Amino acid sequence: MNITKKINYLSVTIALLAFAACQNNSTMSTTSDSTTTETDSSVNTSLIPLSKNFHSTFDGKQTNLYVLKNGNMQVAVTNYGARIVSIVVPDKNGNPTDVAVGHDNVDDYTKGGDTYFGAIVGRYGNRIAKGKFKLDGTEYTLATNNGQNSLHGGKKGFSRQVWDAQQLNDSTLQLTYVSKDGEEGYPGNLTSKVTYTVMSNNKLKIDYEASTDKNTVLNLTNHCYFNLNGQGSGTILNHNVMINADRYTPVDSTLIPTGKLETVKGTPFDFTTPKTIGERVNDTANQQLKFGHGYDHNYVLNSKGNINEKAAEVTGDQSGIVMDVYTLQPGLQFYIGNFMDGSHALKQGKKDDFRTAFCMETQHYPDSPNQPNFPSTELKPGQQYQSTTIYAFSVKK
Ligand code: BGC
Repeated sequence: MNITKKINYLSVTIALLAFAACQNNSTMSTTSDSTTTETDSSVNTSLIPLSKNFHSTFDGKQTNLYVLKNGNMQVAVTNYGARIVSIVVPDKNGNPTDVAVGHDNVDDYTKGGDTYFGAIVGRYGNRIAKGKFKLDGTEYTLATNNGQNSLHGGKKGFSRQVWDAQQLNDSTLQLTYVSKDGEEGYPGNLTSKVTYTVMSNNKLKIDYEASTDKNTVLNLTNHCYFNLNGQGSGTILNHNVMINADRYTPVDSTLIPTGKLETVKGTPFDFTTPKTIGERVNDTANQQLKFGHGYDHNYVLNSKGNINEKAAEVTGDQSGIVMDVYTLQPGLQFYIGNFMDGSHALKQGKKDDFRTAFCMETQHYPDSPNQPNFPSTELKPGQQYQSTTIYAFSVKK
């Protein structure tokens, strides 16, 4: 090889190495028991944050980033709060698009305000009035963290705990958290297991399991913020939404349900036929929209726990990405980022500006432990809690 050929050969090698580094900043994902799983280098992982940015210690436990994949879909999850960090799916032109709001390092999650980006929330997702409920004649007092109410499990909840993680294969991650008797005021040692599976055809399945040693209440959900045009890419008000629900649970000014199941017919809450989020969000005459500062309400799903019946469908106006929601849960909290304020740094240098993401938290109705007419959220020793939600992605051209 002469000197010019040698230099050319060298520069091609360097360029290839640099390209590979950009394409895949995390070819190895490490599990907490320090076994390693190789990711497929043929998949473009450049939208997934660096794994090393998630290697830290919190409460004496190691945090990590796990990358799951199947076909054209990739999902990154950290065991800090069992949080979804990224969901990468193709848009209508086949371009990989990250539709989940998140940070690119674990410090932003541990230090950030209570946004609950991508988190599993528990022991009780959503609000419990005045942080109190009665079970078997005993009154329990919870940590209050949302005015006078308890929200998403209290001060720390499950979203600020480091879960034990085990990557079962390329597409499956299992996370476990044991919540001690009395934690945040809840009775019973509760073991929760959450399994994320990236299925074929761009579906993300979340399985929840739990068991307790004392009578308790629970409401586990995932709090992923979605922008189907790509996280940080502007308003979600032009996303098209269908929610398969004829009724919803109206709230008081502190967002606690009144106990009524009211029809959506003739109100801005009617998404039984698809419309944009923005179409009626500024209906100033609607008191419920005032209380929620926009949509921040629980829908009573017509699917009633039938996972084969669609609970909701959302389409990104620019990307053509469609997300269908299927669930075993009776309710869905539709929240449109009314409290997003641009104060948090997101992946790819983006910010969490006002209403640039929405959540579809599949769950039991808020404040169920205090609402005798709502489906029960009690769990007893010997019972196995089981629930599943699927977010299925596709495209409309
Ligand atoms: C609640 C909102 C809250 C948001 C972030 C949603 O589930 O309904 O009211 O601001 O979570 O905490």
